[in-house]
Amino acid sequence: MKDTLIKNIESAYKSLFKDNPVLIDSPGRINIIGEHTDYNEGFVLPAAIDKGIVAAIGKSDSDFCSVLAYDYNEKHEFLTDDIQPIPNGNWKNYVIGVVAEIQKKSIKVPPFNLVFGGDIPRGGGLSSSAALENSIVFGLNELFGLGMSKEEMILISQRAEHYYVGVRCGIMDQYSSMFGKEDHALLLDCRTQIAKPIQIDFQDYELVLINTNVSHKLVDAEYNNRREVCEKVASLLDIKSLRDATRELLNTVKSQLSEDEYQKALYVIEENDRVLKAAKMIEQNDLEALGNLLFEAHQGVRYQFKVSCKELDFLVDKAKGNPNVIGARMMGGGFGGCTINLVKKEAVKHYTQEISEAYVKAFNKACSIYFVNLSEGTHVINGK
Ligand code: GLA
Repeated sequence: MKDTLIKNIESAYKSLFKDNPVLIDSPGRINIIGEHTDYNEGFVLPAAIDKGIVAAIGKSDSDFCSVLAYDYNEKHEFLTDDIQPIPNGNWKNYVIGVVAEIQKKSIKVPPFNLVFGGDIPRGGGLSSSAALENSIVFGLNELFGLGMSKEEMILISQRAEHYYVGVRCGIMDQYSSMFGKEDHALLLDCRTQIAKPIQIDFQDYELVLINTNVSHKLVDAEYNNRREVCEKVASLLDIKSLRDATRELLNTVKSQLSEDEYQKALYVIEENDRVLKAAKMIEQNDLEALGNLLFEAHQGVRYQFKVSCKELDFLVDKAKGNPNVIGARMMGGGFGGCTINLVKKEAVKHYTQEISEAYVKAFNKACSIYFVNLSEGTHVINGK
């Protein structure tokens, strides 16, 4: 699958620009646990996966940059000294956003050509956007020898998302896409932005992703709104971020908060605890305990942080009712996208068939099933 994708992107580039490009593989990510904790400077446990974006990039002879989004068969041309966010620009804003943010560091980006495409669904909660941003910043750094570190590059990707896409995201997606390690998840402290790689042996279980194929229209606004609530509570507590809060501290301002705000802040405190516990459980090879934490985490996003939706809840409820599934929860920003499930290997075939049928019956549309491996972060494919 990846090989075909690489071939397609490379040959599209060659036939369009008559030149040999640098090829970049930039993965999407899963998150074992730790949702909406990253922008609270808390903990997350993501991993890069073997699905993502492939970008072919090379120098341009003309004054402008020329980009082909292979999957949409759409082109965009622009000048690097005149970059503004494009209303409803979709993928174009990721590209120009990265270029603009590099240039804000007083690094001039010369004209370039780019073709990119991927094998992760947009809106599936697998961070196709971070994969795209990282592929561009990494590719430009490589092509022009810009001398940026990976740490600098992920902040550029994140700022592109804030200022050109309009989502005030945390650092989890860009970090895990850039720094992923084969067979490992990353226990990332989002305050220090330092991660501890944790090897996962799924033993008799398989990681199964189930995509609701739902993507909520207002998801960006809902996301930013959750972040505002967290910031409001942190400022009321006179702390830098909810990372520093405890239940006891939160209770001191309970009367000044609505029940809704209180529950959201409480969720963040509890989710941070769960992430640290989950990392321990993985290290102790206790997958059942890990699975229980996933179920608990879903309750939190469903009833306290309120970023789930009926399709996600349906999939997690089904998982809970099946003895072959030891853990499941929604993954990513929420309001659609995928659930992550730990399913007994021997039952995977039957379970995925059963849940697919039940899903169609309930919602009159299909869900999609993905299997992924934990993989290396953003890297050059051909080394040219
Ligand atoms: C999106 C954001 C991340 C993170 C998750 C929720 O994926 O990009 O920064 O906040 O949602 O955990």
